[in-house]
Amino acid sequence: MFGVPRSKQFDDVYFSEDNGLEETRYVFLKGNNLPENWMGKERFVIAETGFGTGLNFLAAWKLFKETAQPEQKLNFISFEKFPLDGEEILASLQRWSEEFAGYLEPLVEMYPLLIPGFHKIVLDEQVSLILIFDDVNDAIPQVEGAVDAWFLDGFKPSTNPDMWSDVVFEHMARLSRDGTTFATFTAAGGVRRGLGTHGFEVKKVPGFGSKRDMSIGRYTGAIV
Ligand SMILES: C[S@@+](CC[C@H](N)C(=O)[O-])C[C@H]1O[C@@H](n2cnc3c(N)ncnc32)[C@H](O)[C@@H]1O
Repeated sequence: MFGVPRSKQFDDVYFSEDNGLEETRYVFLKGNNLPENWMGKERFVIAETGFGTGLNFLAAWKLFKETAQPEQKLNFISFEKFPLDGEEILASLQRWSEEFAGYLEPLVEMYPLLIPGFHKIVLDEQVSLILIFDDVNDAIPQVEGAVDAWFLDGFKPSTNPDMWSDVVFEHMARLSRDGTTFATFTAAGGVRRGLGTHGFEVKKVPGFGSKRDMSIGRYTGAIV
């Protein structure tokens, strides 16, 4: 049996003990209406708060390869303040080595040294990953461009409020366009209000498995 990796800093798990991969697919992929949302788009940009083990990234990369047209591109940007190293990622995701055959090994081979800053990894002719080893609050103001979908995955807001700050919401709004989506495992009131006051329409929907609810939504620019 494989143990579920746990963060030393936050004493919390990186993914669910029940079925982490199914939860990732339900919360972040289905929550952002993927793959439908990238259909017909030349370039699709996902930004994630909290790279952790890379499970969400691998699930998105694989789904993109299975569903997008060969001329489409995926840019995946992820912020991570306490990066795991390649060996820790490999050990954490070993249980899905068959599922991610052809994905996990290249990711680990190209994974950068744990040096603070921006690291661009071109994984194949369609997919690139920009890993930002820094506190999201310091790094997000430096990002330019337009994001199509947000994966908000930064441990519980009650134990890690920094990941759900006004700075993050303000820059999410700056980097979003009409229709940009987001999904997160949490339905905490502070997160829903923070997103709502920065132009996101927020919906509470049923969570994965035994979890009662989670949040999804889209950027409209309307402040509530
Ligand atoms: C639940 S885990 C993410 C799981 C990940 N998405 C995966 O697929 O494995 C949350 C991550 O957020 C990172 N984190 C926590 N606070 C942060 C901050 N202020 N800035 C950037 N990353 C942070 C943690 O180190 C941890 O890796």
